[in-house]
Amino acid sequence: MFVVQEVFFFCVLVSIWNIRGQYLVRNGQYSEKLAYADLSVRLAPPHLLQPKPDVRDLVFGKYFTDHMFKVFFHEDLGGWQAPEITPLESLVLHPASKALHYAVQAFEGMKAYRGKDDKIRLFRPELNMQRLNHSAKRLGLPSFNSTQFIKCLSRLISIDQEWVPHCETASLYIRPTVIGVDPTLGVATSRSALLYAILCPVGSYFHGQVSKGVSLLADPSYTRAWPGGCGDSKLGSNYAPTIHIQEKAEEKGLQQVLWLYGEDMQLTEVGTMNIFMFIINEEGEKELITPPLNGLILPGITRMSILNLAHEWNQFKVIERIITMEEVCRLTSEKRILEMFGAGTACVVSPISNIHFLNQFLHIPTMEQPSPLYDMILKSLLNIQYGYVPNHPWIIKVE
Ligand SMILES: Cc1ncc(COP(=O)(O)O)c(C=O)c1O
Repeated sequence: MFVVQEVFFFCVLVSIWNIRGQYLVRNGQYSEKLAYADLSVRLAPPHLLQPKPDVRDLVFGKYFTDHMFKVFFHEDLGGWQAPEITPLESLVLHPASKALHYAVQAFEGMKAYRGKDDKIRLFRPELNMQRLNHSAKRLGLPSFNSTQFIKCLSRLISIDQEWVPHCETASLYIRPTVIGVDPTLGVATSRSALLYAILCPVGSYFHGQVSKGVSLLADPSYTRAWPGGCGDSKLGSNYAPTIHIQEKAEEKGLQQVLWLYGEDMQLTEVGTMNIFMFIINEEGEKELITPPLNGLILPGITRMSILNLAHEWNQFKVIERIITMEEVCRLTSEKRILEMFGAGTACVVSPISNIHFLNQFLHIPTMEQPSPLYDMILKSLLNIQYGYVPNHPWIIKVE
């Protein structure tokens, strides 16, 4: 009888300890455990180092650098384990891993730029980390310490620094990714996760399209995100269902999809970019408009930076509000749209020339403006990213 009681109390204690552990993990108490001080480095042997492609041959996401970053999270082992930098290698996942069945996967897209002074710079990386933590939370994955992760990424980039292109038409794309690797079927919290990062040198995203402007398919029968959904998180599951629609756009000779939402056909995003419209308003003033962060839209770091710059310039009105297709049609016929453009890390700014909407082509005169706003924004952002603006607060140098 005494033994049974002892076993019972032992089981109760273990359960309380487990519940406490899960509480701490879910509330970010273990996030401090992702520590740069614990980082180990295993370098690729010289004979396995890959040749670097010519900058003119760079295709987005095709070539990868020699090393990668990895850190596992195991709830049963107290949270984040020791991070490591290893040669770029395939991942071994249990076939039941939650990432493979329920799309427990979130990612980021950011870049490192080599300036004219040969220094390598990151652009507002803390915002990417904030967004990745936000996305991970939506998937029930653990949070991590942003500062420690940025330090680990900086070390990875400095190891592969020769992969950061030596020119200002290219950069090094950074893809931090977090996946649920719990090897159990069942739609439930993943008690194990893997946070990793890979790097690839990239050239221009749209390969010369900037000089012509992109043409968009606006088909109201497709929706990317909806209220209460995950449009404001960067989850792989937001992107897979868009591929088929992107194919439809390409079949029609168009480059991107203009994502609409609702009965009034609100413009939400363009491809994988935030959208901006520059118009003459009812009062005859110039106005830059972008849809508000209402949960349907990814809070782009380029979007936020453009809004920050535009407010600072104070040369035209800057407004975050809903734009509908009815308004775009009306403003086009009244010749009050000056420019439309997409904005995102991959392409920075991508001017829009045409919208294919319900069997009609709406021409947007972005490329006909004598000194277009999109170009002023593009140049200002590139100047910051490539180090022409000294000590800019948005820049973190890779030491
Ligand atoms: C759907 C979507 N919207 C907008 C953006 C632009 O975000 P950012 O400027 O942070 O790259 C991206 C790119 O990450 C995206 O995938």
